[in-house]
Amino acid sequence: MTIFYFTSTGNCLAVAKKIGNGNTKLISIPQVVGKPDLAFADDVIGVVFPIYGFGLPKMVKKFLETAKLQGAYMFAIGTYGNLPGACMLNVQRFAEQHGYKFDYAESLLMVDNYLPGFNINDQVAKLPEKRVDENLARIIADIQNRKTLDATAGIGWRFMTAMIKRGENLLVNGKQGQRYEVNQNCNQCGTCSKVCPAGNITVSDKVIFADQCEGCLGCVHLCPKNAIHLRHEKNEVRWRNPDVSLKEMIAANNRK
Ligand SMILES: Cc1cc2nc3c(=O)[nH]c(=O)nc-3n(C[C@H](O)[C@H](O)[C@H](O)COP(=O)(O)O)c2cc1C
Repeated sequence: MTIFYFTSTGNCLAVAKKIGNGNTKLISIPQVVGKPDLAFADDVIGVVFPIYGFGLPKMVKKFLETAKLQGAYMFAIGTYGNLPGACMLNVQRFAEQHGYKFDYAESLLMVDNYLPGFNINDQVAKLPEKRVDENLARIIADIQNRKTLDATAGIGWRFMTAMIKRGENLLVNGKQGQRYEVNQNCNQCGTCSKVCPAGNITVSDKVIFADQCEGCLGCVHLCPKNAIHLRHEKNEVRWRNPDVSLKEMIAANNRK
C-alpha cells in the first residue's frame, strides 16, 4: 500500500499513519509534486488531504492532475472540520477525468484548523461528538475489506461548492502569507519556513512570505513562539494533531 498525504496541522498525517499501520509507504505530496514523470503503482493507493473551501488544496489538485496513479484498489479520504460540501464527489469525478478511479471516497470530521472561522478551544471541546476514532476505525475496516463507496452530494451542496470555488479563484492568489503579522516573539528560529509545504517562507532577520502561499496556516499553527497572527483570528490558540510531532511535520513539509 502507498498513501500520499498533504497536511498542515497533522490531521491528515495522523490519519495516513493509522490507515498505514506501520507497514505502508507514506509519501508527502509537497515532496513529490512538480517532479517530472510522476508515476506510482501499488496494489493499494490512497490519498489523504484536508478539504479547503469545499475543495482541494491547490497542491493536491496539481498532484492529482499530474501524477499517474495505478492501484488495483484506490481510495481518497478528505479530512474536514465542519462541512465538506461536494468535495469528495468532485474528487471522484476529477480522478475519472484524469484517467483513474477512486474506488472508495470518504470524508472524516476532525478539528477545524481554519482560524478565521473557528476557535481551537471550541474545536477541541467538540472532539468527543465528532467521534474521530470511531469513524476512522470504520474507514480503516472498509479499506481493509476493499469496500467501494461513491461519494454523493445533493444539488444544493453541488451549487454551493461551485459558487465557493468561483469566489476562491478570485481571492486565493498565493499572497495570503503577506497579510500575516509576525510579532516581537519571533526569534527567527525558521520553523515556519520548514513546515511550509510550498517553500514560500524565508527567514533572515525577519520572516518573508513570497507569493506561493497555499493558505494552509501551517506556519501560524506550528510557530513555537506563537508569533504569527492573522488579522482576523478568533484567539491565539493553535492546533497540532497530538499524534504527530513537530519533527514529523517538518519532515513532511520542508521544501528547503
Ligand atoms: C484554508 C482552509 C480551508 C478550509 N476549508 C474547509 C472547508 O471548506 N470545510 C471544512 O469542513 N473544513 C475546512 N478546513 C479545515 C480543514 O479541512 C481540517 O481542519 C483538516 O482536518 C486539516 O487537516 P491537516 O491538519 O492535515 O492540515 C479548512 C482549513 C483551511 C486551512
